[in-house]
Amino acid sequence: MEAAEVQKIAVVTGANRGLGLEISRQLALRGVRVVMTARDPEKGKQAWEGLRRQGLCVEYLPLDVTVQASVEALARSLAQTFGGLDILVNNAGILPEGQGARALSLGLEVFRQAFETNALGALRLCQALVPLMKKRGGGRIVNVSSGLAQLTTMGTGTPAYRVSKTALNALTRILAAELEAEGIKVNAACPGWVRTDMGGPDAPRSVAEGADTPVWLALLPEDGPTGGFFRDRQPIPW
Ligand SMILES: NC(=O)c1ccc[n+]([C@@H]2O[C@H](COP(=O)([O-])OP(=O)(O)OC[C@H]3O[C@@H](n4cnc5c(N)ncnc54)[C@H](OP(=O)(O)O)[C@@H]3O)[C@@H](O)[C@H]2O)c1
Repeated sequence: MEAAEVQKIAVVTGANRGLGLEISRQLALRGVRVVMTARDPEKGKQAWEGLRRQGLCVEYLPLDVTVQASVEALARSLAQTFGGLDILVNNAGILPEGQGARALSLGLEVFRQAFETNALGALRLCQALVPLMKKRGGGRIVNVSSGLAQLTTMGTGTPAYRVSKTALNALTRILAAELEAEGIKVNAACPGWVRTDMGGPDAPRSVAEGADTPVWLALLPEDGPTGGFFRDRQPIPW
């Protein structure tokens, strides 16, 4: 008889709505114990209760990815409760500028905001939580990026968002290289254009479709890829 598989523990950032909520739901449906995190405790607990009512194994912990103390508190709490971590989905993100924004006229403060959440937020989480993955002998990190980060098709519009997500892609490659020997796979996912508060009502994809590739990357087997950028479970150019 085979030993029962130990339940995997995942952290999802920005889990109170949109793709983060759906990624949490899909991971929990696959038997993962999901720690849903959100910066607003009201909204976070509401989302958590929604999935609990569906019978899913989920927890809630507060987290603002731009606040170092908040990230450290999360790491302490995870260490106390679970002693380790298997999956980190860096989903929290902002698109702080309007569609018509141009790099030459957009305030630098907007670039800083985007960078702080979309790039440094993910790095902060990795720095704090990778030690917990090492305790489990490996892990999976999924950075929710965007096709707007691709250098091959880089153009005008949403410059702060684009630059911050391209930085997130660079971090994906760097961390994948740093962590390969540790059995920790680091990949970036583009969910496509998805109907969320960020994507708007005209986007062609549902949250379920958008969450598919991040969830697939979170559950990659040992022989799965690392250091890649994927949409619809297929590699795409950086
Ligand atoms: N929707 C699309 O078409 C699309 C396309 C490509 C990539 N993406 C990416 O997919 C990810 C999820 O986007 P979405 O469409 O689900 O957007 P969304 O509905 O706007 O949700 C964004 C989530 O991020 C959270 N968040 C923002 N700043 C945070 C912070 N400092 N700390 C913790 N949480 C924070 C938000 O929390 P609050 O509720 O507290 O604001 C919210 O839960 C983002 O990284 C986005 O860039 C989306």
